[in-house]
Amino acid sequence: MRGGTWETQRLHLGLRSYRLCAGMQMSTPNKRKLFLLLLITVCVIILYDRKRPTTITRIPVAPKFCPSSVSKQSITPLKNTKHLLVSAYMDQRVPGFDIRFIGMFRRDSMQELHCFFCCSGYISETTPAKVLQHSDNFGFPFVTTDVMCQIPPECNATHVTLLTQPRPENGSEHTWLPIRNKKTNGEEDKKMDFTVCISNLFGDYNNVLQFAQTLEMYRLLGVNRVVIYNTSCGPDLDRLLESYKQEGFVEVVPWPIDKHMNPSRGWLFSEHGGDIHYFGQLTTLNECIYRSMERSRYVLLNDIDEIIMPYQEDSLKSLMDRLQTQFPNVGVFLIENHIFPKKHFEPSGKFHLPQWNGVPGINILEHIYREEPDRKIYHPYKMLVQPRMVEQTSVHSVLKFFKQDYKVPPDVCRIVHVRVALRKSLKLEELKVDSRLWDFQEKLIPNVDKVLKKLKMLV
Ligand SMILES: *[C@@H]1O[C@H](CO)[C@@H](O)[C@H](O)[C@H]1NC(C)=O
Ligand SMILES: *[C@@H]1O[C@H](CO)[C@@H](O)[C@H](O)[C@H]1NC(C)=O
Ligand SMILES: *[C@@H]1O[C@H](CO)[C@@H](O)[C@H](O)[C@H]1NC(C)=O
Repeated sequence: MRGGTWETQRLHLGLRSYRLCAGMQMSTPNKRKLFLLLLITVCVIILYDRKRPTTITRIPVAPKFCPSSVSKQSITPLKNTKHLLVSAYMDQRVPGFDIRFIGMFRRDSMQELHCFFCCSGYISETTPAKVLQHSDNFGFPFVTTDVMCQIPPECNATHVTLLTQPRPENGSEHTWLPIRNKKTNGEEDKKMDFTVCISNLFGDYNNVLQFAQTLEMYRLLGVNRVVIYNTSCGPDLDRLLESYKQEGFVEVVPWPIDKHMNPSRGWLFSEHGGDIHYFGQLTTLNECIYRSMERSRYVLLNDIDEIIMPYQEDSLKSLMDRLQTQFPNVGVFLIENHIFPKKHFEPSGKFHLPQWNGVPGINILEHIYREEPDRKIYHPYKMLVQPRMVEQTSVHSVLKFFKQDYKVPPDVCRIVHVRVALRKSLKLEELKVDSRLWDFQEKLIPNVDKVLKKLKMLV
């Protein structure tokens, strides 16, 4: 409607300028030539002006249209600051707030911020923002940070951004973030049961066999989707990921964090230096929880070489059905990490399959010796959570959550983690034999073969 009125006014103005030009033609014949020249000049100026709507000041100023520019990146620098924004989500679980940004903020330049909204095509006033740094930063300059604020009344918010002052500067451009997880009217979307969040892929990681086996194992356990944040990876893993992405089982989120800062390959600033913990692992884990909140009942937070494995049930669904009946108030299930050193091979070699000889990476079926964790020292857990019960997470525990957490006994569920030995002094005789993966071999092997064959990686 507003657009229509505006058009009409432009038309009137044009008509008026036309009459002006026409009327002037009836002036005295004296100095006709000079006058005609003047006339033409004036008409040209008026007509030219008419084509530039910004110069028309008499028209009531329509609110600025938005969003003029929407960020298409997964990491967006915030204007006039040193901070980086990742995404904005609708989140009304904490009273008084509607929106939660997830970002990576510089701890040495925290500042007052204001939320600025695009409401179905028009910009609105700002609302004050609450900036909440996560408690885990491991000494790095950048920390995962939430920014929360309220949507102004009467605003049907579609996009949001942050300002360093309560009013937008005249004529400044904004990069808007779409507001995600907005409730769709009517019936609830059909939810997936299980999403696995793999935090970060970086360097030239090319462990194709272990990755394919892990993904196919997860599929057998009932996982619906795997989300993975990709900074970079090796050439063969890239092809494997691309194939899973096309099929829809894997969602690859580009994570070009190295374009914005110097990410650390370690977890502790004093030891490893750099700008942020492990390529921003804490940020991606949180982002993945919010990304999955409205579409998945459960989220598994683990690394690329770890499998959260039920030992008494054959699927994650039966495991969780039992645990949730037993513990209805638990929203965070802590699963113990168990290491299967890759230096010890199962002696018969029955799963040393010739068709996998040309595939780079570890064959997890060959490693059945498990370290018993040293319970005298801190022992890490990974997590299986109800995303709606989590506000902020770290790697081995949640930082802020609703409901309760529960340590799942290892005989019920544990992480199968094939990697270099952790307790290096343990001898083979001191390790436990654990061939749980073999229970799935009948389906697992053909499924892995199928995906590798498609990529022409099978011998
Ligand atoms: C809010 O905006 C969305 C997107 O423009 C639109 O689909 C929806 O109908 C609007 N809702 C209301 C209540 O105006
Ligand atoms: C922005 O424009 C408005 C209206 O033209 C004016 O009143 C205000 O002073 C301007 N603000 C700045 C910071 O230039
Ligand atoms: C992962 O990121 C790298 C670097 O941007 C890119 O070259 C590669 O194609 C990406 N892989 C996938 C599967 O998206």
